Amino acid sequence: MRIGILGTGGMATALGGAWTTAGHDVLIGGRDQERAERTAALVGAAGHGSLTDAARHGEAVLVAVPATQAPHLVDHLAADLAGRTVVDCTNPITPTGEGLMLAVDGATSVARQLAATAPDAHVVKAFNLCHVSIWTLRPPTFEDVPLAVPYCADHPAAATVTETLISSIGCTPAACGGLARAAYLEATAALAIGLWWTGGQPRAAFPSPGEVPHP
Ligand SMILES: NC(=O)c1ccc[n+]([C@@H]2O[C@H](COP(=O)([O-])OP(=O)(O)OC[C@H]3O[C@@H](n4cnc5c(N)ncnc54)[C@H](OP(=O)(O)O)[C@@H]3O)[C@@H](O)[C@H]2O)c1
Repeated sequence: MRIGILGTGGMATALGGAWTTAGHDVLIGGRDQERAERTAALVGAAGHGSLTDAARHGEAVLVAVPATQAPHLVDHLAADLAGRTVVDCTNPITPTGEGLMLAVDGATSVARQLAATAPDAHVVKAFNLCHVSIWTLRPPTFEDVPLAVPYCADHPAAATVTETLISSIGCTPAACGGLARAAYLEATAALAIGLWWTGGQPRAAFPSPGEVPHP
């Protein structure tokens, strides 16, 4: 699959590397061409270019810039992103005296803001729950169980593209409903990251009822 990446930082490197290893045609797009070239070389991507180049290249386009910058960037690229699957991995979180808080009104989400600003793009929320280091694992597997990657999507075709992005790097897609539920993925990240920062282990907090031993 052709994948464009908006951004040249940690997530662009980790996911760009994973998708390149999986055989996808990845183009790293950045506002700084030296950095885009360096990141592309680091991960063995097929190419690098401007943010516009990345938006035009991808059947799928990963938004890997700060959450505060993402709506403006996607607005600027809206025409180029039309008809493409736009994968939003951003986390709109900010430290406050009360702990890590969402930086958007909890009734909405960055993903919905992106969808509103680029209505012809097919926005998906995914890949935001795990730290960048997890995406560098080949594959991300824990205790022989592939990592589950929750995602929210409105468009069936974009859901299919997202499932390919997830399964091709050895993970298991976990459909979590439409984009109206992306706010929950963003809030979950705020809660989980806040727990990690205070020494907690969110992974241990979500056993399913099916795991309760029978007497
Ligand atoms: N790090 C994690 O563990 C993690 C995990 C899950 C999700 N996320 C989310 O993924 C996104 C990227 O995180 P990251 O760790 O990759 O960040 P990062 O390493 O700081 O990289 C951010 C990238 O965004 C670019 N950028 C910043 N402002 C921009 C703008 N206005 N227009 C275009 N490009 C801009 C930067 O370009 P320059 O180099 O030119 O400044 C850089 O390439 C964030 O939204 C974050 O919340 C991160």
